[in-house]
Amino acid sequence: MKKISKICCIGAGYVGGPTMSVIANQCPHIQVTVVDINEARIAQWNTEDLNQLPIYEPGLKEIIAESRGKNLFFSTEVDQAIAEAQMIFISVNTPTKTYGKGKGQAADLKFVELCARNIAKVAKEDKIVVEKSTLPVRTAEAIKNILDNTGNGVRFEILSNPEFLAEGTAIEDLLHADRVLIGGDDTPTGKAAKNALSEVYENWLPKERILQTNVWSSELSKLVANAFLAQRVSSINSISALCEKTDANIAEISRAIGFDSRIGPKFLNASVGFGGSCFQKDILNLVYIARSFGLPEVADYWEQVILMNDYQKRRFADLMIQTLYNTVSGKKIVLYGWAFKKDTNDTRESAAIYIADALMDEQAQLVVYDPKVPKERIYADLDYLGTRDPQKNRDLLTVATDPLEATRDAHAVAVVTEWDEFKGYDWKKIYEHMLKPAFVFDGRRLLDTHTMRDIGFNYYKIGEA
Ligand code: NAD
Ligand code: UGA
Repeated sequence: MKKISKICCIGAGYVGGPTMSVIANQCPHIQVTVVDINEARIAQWNTEDLNQLPIYEPGLKEIIAESRGKNLFFSTEVDQAIAEAQMIFISVNTPTKTYGKGKGQAADLKFVELCARNIAKVAKEDKIVVEKSTLPVRTAEAIKNILDNTGNGVRFEILSNPEFLAEGTAIEDLLHADRVLIGGDDTPTGKAAKNALSEVYENWLPKERILQTNVWSSELSKLVANAFLAQRVSSINSISALCEKTDANIAEISRAIGFDSRIGPKFLNASVGFGGSCFQKDILNLVYIARSFGLPEVADYWEQVILMNDYQKRRFADLMIQTLYNTVSGKKIVLYGWAFKKDTNDTRESAAIYIADALMDEQAQLVVYDPKVPKERIYADLDYLGTRDPQKNRDLLTVATDPLEATRDAHAVAVVTEWDEFKGYDWKKIYEHMLKPAFVFDGRRLLDTHTMRDIGFNYYKIGEA
């Protein structure tokens, strides 16, 4: 197998953009071209002003500044980039199907299939095709079928190389990955392809952290990793509800159980519920796969993680409504945060959307402030739900640019994303601005209970009575 000198990545999204930027940055001898059919997105990746990149990730703009135009390129010339590269990553979106068989659960693979057909059409030389997108187990088989049957006699090796980065820490996660997973065939050419990809990562990661498996284990490991992580959040959130009834404190419980090295301390923060583009989608996919293979008990087991998450989001909105004397109609409520977690501008499946929607159903007057999410995104998220007509969404919700001013005459503030800056706000001033009694609902356990109560707030924190 020749050394890899040209890589193409199809899909310039939250995974393709940061992943390829790090590869280019760590491998100056490899030319990396990231392509997308979305012209506006590519234009944003090529923007002069690095504050206007399509994705906000700490450390990303510095890496782009170093590598872009040298060995990192963003382009809409998909065919050309495919033709030139020896290794092609498929990093397109794989959302939950919204139509047909498997609607609401199965992964929609139409974008992946289009990529495979495009590669088959364009390739004139042997290629390694790498599944970077998260895919159902055995997708590589379908990709191989398409490539082998519509190609021009070219040999393709298909690898699965799922991505484990988390948003908000993408660059750190990529630079110091716990592990890289490479799945491929155990044939001589399959092994050579796995080694070729391993060599790319070995430019900055120790070899012992690069795991090689068969393709199916690799594909399924990705779904299972996300399912386990989400399960931890749902588990701790389920206990947060019990804490609120019993005077036990969820932070003390997380600490107490996390000290057990078999359990470990991470991912035990109770919250308003997990969001993000992947946890729900990947578990639904796992549930669908288990059902398709005639394993209803397995499917039901994992589905419960989603049901618990839905309960947690609903529970938080219900707590607010009940506490505000069972009516929020016409009351001004400020939401701090809209992104699904701090340090990202991504709002996909953010708990904030569902909490806002529930409050708007009760005719609350919402004001939202998020340091990185633009107004258009917030309205687009609500309009996409389709609960009410777009004009009504705009009547019931406004977007603030000044977080402190936003609290004037508000009945309540709810913290729904854990942005660090919320901790540093002048909460005494916020208290003065608000109507009394002034309520704060802390869905991220971000603020100090004693300080908030000393100021005078009626302060509610998830997982504490
Ligand atoms: P995204 O929606 O941000 O980006 C996908 C991009 O692919 C879009 O810009 C879209 O225009 C482009 N695209 C779609 N079809 C195309 C085609 N035929 N040709 C060229 N471009 C095309 O998605 P994402 O968040 O980057 O996720 C991509 C995959 O990675 C998904 O399978 C996801 O499950 C997985 N993943 C995501 C994360 C994450 O943190 N977001 C982490 C790990 C894995
Ligand atoms: C997650 C995984 O952590 C990544 O390994 C994976 O690559 C990625 O999904 C993916 O496949 O897309 P991400 O969704 O970006 O990454 O962010 P996380 O840090 O996992 O947080 C997910 C959600 O869980 C957020 O809403 C977060 O606020 C919530 N969460 C997380 C909690 O409520 N409590 C916790 O203790 C941890």
